[in-house]
Amino acid sequence: AFVVTDNCILCKYTDCVEVCPVDCFYEGPNFLVIDPDECIDCALCEPECPAEAIFSEDDVPADQKHFIELNAELAPEWDNITEKKEQLPEAEKWDGVKEKLKYLEK
Ligand code: SF4
Ligand code: F3S
Repeated sequence: AFVVTDNCILCKYTDCVEVCPVDCFYEGPNFLVIDPDECIDCALCEPECPAEAIFSEDDVPADQKHFIELNAELAPEWDNITEKKEQLPEAEKWDGVKEKLKYLEK
């Protein structure tokens, strides 16, 4: 499956959801996740993310591996999102800031 990682937090551009053929993105207050049971590994979402936050499970950077489990854990708890919406108000400011997991709202 593909995995949403740290740099999505506080940005949430949502370009990714528009291209997913199986609508497997789920939305929290300041982060999105992919349901690994539904993702068909088409790879269409990866280049769409302006924050470059999406990786194939096999390519998730070493310091982000915990996001694999986090996507699986949060997907069943959050609501499905299939249409792009406005990015978070301070997305540009937060894009590229490291270790934003502490700001994750569930
Ligand atoms: Fe959806 Fe394809 Fe991305 Fe998986 S890889 S989340 S199926 S767009
Ligand atoms: Fe997040 Fe990138 Fe999608 S910032 S909402 S993974 S387009």
